[in-house]
This record gives sequence, structure tokens and C-alpha cells, in this order.
Amino acid sequence: MSNKDIFNFSSLEDLENKVKKLNLDIPFSTNIDLLKEKIEINGRTINNRLAIHPMEGCDATSKGSPSELTERRYMRYTKGLAGLIWFEATAVSESARANNQQLFLNKYTFDDFANLVNMMKETSLKDNKQYPYLVLQLTHSGRFGENKVIAVHDEELDKISKIDFSHPIITDKELEELKESYIITAKLAKKAGFDAVDVKSCHRYLLSELLGARTREGKYGGDYENRTSFLKDVVERIEDEVGIEVAVRLNISDFLHYSVGWGVNEQGELDLAEPLKLIRELKDRKVKIINVTAGSPYINPHINRPADGEPKKYAPPEPPLLGVERLIKLTKEVQSNFEDLVVVGTGLSWFREYVPYVASGMVEKGYAKIIGLGRMAFAYPNFAKDIIESGILDRSKVCITCIRCAELKAHKKITGCAIRDREIYLKPYMEILRENR
Ligand SMILES: Cc1cc2nc3c(=O)[nH]c(=O)nc-3n(C[C@H](O)[C@H](O)[C@H](O)COP(=O)(O)O)c2cc1C
Repeated sequence: MSNKDIFNFSSLEDLENKVKKLNLDIPFSTNIDLLKEKIEINGRTINNRLAIHPMEGCDATSKGSPSELTERRYMRYTKGLAGLIWFEATAVSESARANNQQLFLNKYTFDDFANLVNMMKETSLKDNKQYPYLVLQLTHSGRFGENKVIAVHDEELDKISKIDFSHPIITDKELEELKESYIITAKLAKKAGFDAVDVKSCHRYLLSELLGARTREGKYGGDYENRTSFLKDVVERIEDEVGIEVAVRLNISDFLHYSVGWGVNEQGELDLAEPLKLIRELKDRKVKIINVTAGSPYINPHINRPADGEPKKYAPPEPPLLGVERLIKLTKEVQSNFEDLVVVGTGLSWFREYVPYVASGMVEKGYAKIIGLGRMAFAYPNFAKDIIESGILDRSKVCITCIRCAELKAHKKITGCAIRDREIYLKPYMEILRENR
């Protein structure tokens, strides 16, 4: 199999044969009805097994409110009937923002968030007599935000985020203050009508960086206990002081070198001992939903979001099918260790019109309870409706993992699908091409 071996299947059988030939752990099922089953979480119902993953649209107003374009995206998702809508990365403070196009929930933007949540619920109730489970992803963009807030120095990572060795590291005191921002934002999220908040700990943003901060001194670095304590404290405090459900989107492994990597051993190989221990401790703190992900879009995007297209400068070291299998196996590992957790699987958009069969296969075999789609949601916001109502996806609407959405985000343009939603997103994509000519 070559690294350039992209999606090229003329039938489900063709795809299944390839998976069999390569002996990959990717399950298939035609029992699509499994995706229609409900899940109860503390008296709230998730109406089916399909979720919209958090996807930054880079279209917030400068103060951090949802704009008309943000509303358009979320209303399209709402009409698309996914049982769970996981709102995109939303900053917990001004300095946590990736840039001034990222959502930021605070007392000044609260009404705009609450109005959007209300609109989503009212529309769903009117049309479907039910509304989706809504999770708000709370984030600090860390070294990848404009403020470049870092927890550790590392030659490789500093080079990627264009930071020199004199750049300050966030202090323990500043981290203590940051915890307050998480609590305040979680309170606002509850008041705005969200069902849960996600204390985002993935993709090497700040909380994810802390998990691997072996070289950091002080109470948040060094051993496992210190590295995981920020996340565990915040989760515990939200449970105790806010009383909203807490979910976690967690990197199961960063696939980085050991001195700063999470979920790797000294040889830099995948090692799930610490991630599984952390999930157990999060579960003890009443976390019920874990959204499984890995890698970082800035460092190893082939792990994070397997794709057929990649920006020119990045040559993925493997074919995307192997990347998809890796994410599926990590999800299976978590779900099989914690059968009572609701584990959300990631990375399936690459399967295009065959998503329903892999999603059903994963649910049938107990690899995950819910399947989320990210890039597919940009391309085909009502994928869940089509799967639930007809069992099939329209080939002319599916995501083709060309990764133009990631390029739009990287260039700080409004972000969506330049192929399937071209009336809005083709123009900013053409601007990138012109700017880089
Ligand atoms: C443009 C873009 C924006 C994204 N925004 C977020 C985000 O806000 N939070 C997050 O956890 N993941 C984010 N992701 C990652 C996706 O949620 C998802 O994990 C990834 O695309 C793989 O899933 P898929 O194959 O269904 O696309 C983003 C990915 C892309 C391409």
C-alpha cells in the first residue's frame, strides 16, 4: 500500500475487501437501525448515535459572539438531526482565544449564545418534538493561539509555533487563575442552556500540553499526578460548583516524543497506561462522555484527521486508511475498558458514503456508543437525517477530505466546505490561492 493510496472504492464490497486484505480492525454492519437507538444521560436523552464533532468556523464576531454565519452552521446542524451537537472550541478568556474569530463565552456575549441555543431548541422541538444534546467545548488555545501561551518549552514544538527559548512559560499562579475562567464559563454555559461542557484536553492546546509536561517544574509538571491535576481539578470543581454535566474531548495519545508527549512510552511508542488511568479518574469524577481523538493538526495531521488531500508542505507518512484504523482502534480500546462510558468515535469522514456501515459496525461491535463526524458536517450538515431516514448518504454531498477547510482555518478565513458549500466558502478559498501565488 502506498502513502498516496487515497479513497478509491466503487462499492462497499470493494472497501470491505481492501480492509480484509490488509487485515485491518475496521468493522462493518448493514444494521443501520442501531444508529437510531437512544442513550439516556442523567434524565436527558441523546436521540441517536450520531454526533457533530466540534469544528471551528472562524466566524465569530470580534467580541466572541456567534455571528450570522455561526448561526447558519448550527441551525443547519440542528435541522440535520444528529443526536449530539458538540459546539466548537470556545475560549474561556480573552488570552485563551486562538484569534478574534474564535467564539468566546463571557458576560458580554452571553445573550448571543443563549439566543442561539434557544433558537436551536425551539426549532428542534417544533420540527421533531425533541432537541439535540448540546455540549460546549471550553478551550485555551495555548501555544497555537495568537498569545502563544505555553506550558513547556520543546525544540520541535517551539519551532512549529515560532517561539524562541526566551518566551515565558505560563506560571502556576496564572494556571490557578485560569481555573476560575473555566468555572465562570461553565456557569454561563449552563445558564445559556447547554447540557454539558467539554474541558477540552486534546490536539496539544494548553490543557493537552499540560498532560505531557514532564519537563515542567512545579505543581503542574513532572509526574502523572501533577500533569493531570489541572484537568481533574477543573472537572471536579465544575461538577461541585456549577452542576452541569462534564464531558472531555481527550487525546488518547499525542504521538510525540516522550519528554513532552502524552500516551507514549520512553521509546516514543503508543502507551495507553496513563490515558486509561486518567479516564478512570475522570469517570470517578462523574464524567460520562469521552470523545476520543489523537495527535495534533499542527504537528501530525495524518493522525488527527486522515485525509486524501494535505497542504503542499505536508507529506503524510502513511495512507489515510491506516490513520482511520488507528483512531478506530483507540476508540475501541477506550470503550472496551469502560463499557458504561459513552465513548464518541472520531475520524470517519474519510469513508464518505460508506460512513453508515462503519458507524453501525462500530456500535454493533461495541467499539463506541456514538459516532461523531467533523469535516462531513461542514460538507453535509444533514448527514444524520439521511442516515436515519433512508440509511444511505448521497455520494454527491459527502466530504472528500480534500482538507480545504483546514487550509481556510489555518489562513484565518471563515471556515467551512469550499466544495459542497461553495456559495460561501469557495471565495475565501480562492483568496488563499491568490495570496499564495
Ligand atoms: C477546520 C477544522 C476545525 C476543527 N475544529 C475543531 C474544534 O473546534 N475542536 C476540536 O476538538 N476539534 C476540531 N477539529 C477536529 C475535528 O473535530 C475532527 O476530530 C477531525 O476533523 C477528524 O474527524 P472527521 O474525520 O470526522 O473530520 C477541527 C478540524 C478541522 C478540519
